[in-house]
Amino acid sequence: QITLRVARYRPEEEDAAPAFADYDVPLRADWAVLDGLNHIKDELDGTLSYRWSCRMGICGSCGMMINGDPRLSCATFLSDLTPGPVRIEPLAHFPVIRDLVVDLTDFLHHLGQVRPWLIRDEEQPVEQGEYLQTPAQLQNFKQFSMCINCMLCYAACPVYGLDDAFVGPAAIALAHRYDLDSRDEGDRERLTILAQPDGVWDCTFVGECSAACPKGVDPAGAIQQVKLAAALDAVKSLVLPWRSR
Ligand code: FES
Repeated sequence: QITLRVARYRPEEEDAAPAFADYDVPLRADWAVLDGLNHIKDELDGTLSYRWSCRMGICGSCGMMINGDPRLSCATFLSDLTPGPVRIEPLAHFPVIRDLVVDLTDFLHHLGQVRPWLIRDEEQPVEQGEYLQTPAQLQNFKQFSMCINCMLCYAACPVYGLDDAFVGPAAIALAHRYDLDSRDEGDRERLTILAQPDGVWDCTFVGECSAACPKGVDPAGAIQQVKLAAALDAVKSLVLPWRSR
């Protein structure tokens, strides 16, 4: 057995305060933290609230703080956390709705800020068919399209922890994904948004976002590349004002 020390909080109750509750769950070689939570929910305490869906590191819904680190609970094995107890808390930097469930509103707002869709100056005529890409053009942005919106990078980011106006790692990586897409013509629009004070310049390049990412997206790398584009754009507009777009 291993003990899971789980954060419990029901803000709707009078005098509610966050507290921990200990649960002993079976320590099986193939059990992830999520299996332990499901055991609690099914066998020990049906009132525990948390999110999950795919159970295979794809949906991004099961992120939580595990022994202080933001991780996917379906991809973190109990056998790697012995002897316990294992501390399980809601993702850092987000308001808690109940127990391990956090409010996604601010995260979704930041994703929407960067205009994460294909922007075209003009659509090509329908008779030309779909927009084709070469494998090399796909490869150009593929890494940044692997994000599963698990929010671990926001929970890991000390800047977002201090200032939730910061657009944040996943949203900037998403913007970069579209900027690198050969079908997109919206880089100027996104650069204007990301060059604002709450955009890329808020990032102090701690790199924790990339360390926490379970998909190897490297949001810190994306942010540095957008910073370079913003800096070059600013210089260009100073030196060659007639050439700035
Ligand atoms: Fe889908 Fe963990 S349950 S990523």
